[in-house]
Amino acid sequence: MKELSLHILDVAQNSVSAGASRLDITLREDARGWLTVTIADNGRGMSPDFLARVTDPFTTTRTTRKVGMGLALYLLAAEQTGGRLSIDSAQGQGTTVTATFDRNHLDCPPLGDLAGTVALLIQGSPELELHYCHTAPGGEAELSTVELKEVLGDDISLAEPEIFAWIQNYLSEQEAQLEGAVQER
Ligand SMILES: Nc1ncnc2c1ncn2[C@@H]1O[C@H](COP(=O)(O)OP(=O)(O)O)[C@@H](O)[C@H]1O
Ligand SMILES: [Mg+2]
Repeated sequence: MKELSLHILDVAQNSVSAGASRLDITLREDARGWLTVTIADNGRGMSPDFLARVTDPFTTTRTTRKVGMGLALYLLAAEQTGGRLSIDSAQGQGTTVTATFDRNHLDCPPLGDLAGTVALLIQGSPELELHYCHTAPGGEAELSTVELKEVLGDDISLAEPEIFAWIQNYLSEQEAQLEGAVQER
């Protein structure tokens, strides 16, 4: 995959498939260009045995095809920059996937469209309690569906096309400011 946002979408979709009602996506960048991406859910989790081989491309609970590539490719993307991937999971409690990337490394993919990714996730699972937070030395981009629902009230579904557009605009402005601030350093 050419963009980190596509990896994040893919890994977050595992959380949705695992029946999560809450999802936290956190990106933290330090002044030296190290990026830590944490994707945490309260879904069904994995057994220790399954967890031990989950980054193997042939490990999947899919029934439509025999290979599950999402986490294997994510691991590869992190390691290609000199970073790493770790997965914590407990059955019936949830899963936390943490990956580190050196954004100054030549092989580090661009961030991609994070705002669109978050908007897409919310549109696809409007009932999900999603917290998104991206911090970097230049500032912060943040969105919570809980706050959004408080403002919008119960009558409007987060799956509405207008809400999708609003989320995308709101976050892409914040993301642009963050990236701009990084480049000015
Ligand atoms: N957050 C998660 N919670 C529970 N199970 C997960 C989670 N992420 C991955 N898994 C399990 O690991 C398997 C492999 O995931 P992945 O590498 O993304 O491939 P795929 O999604 O194509 O199966 C999934 O099929 C699922 O059984
Ligand atoms: Mg997957």
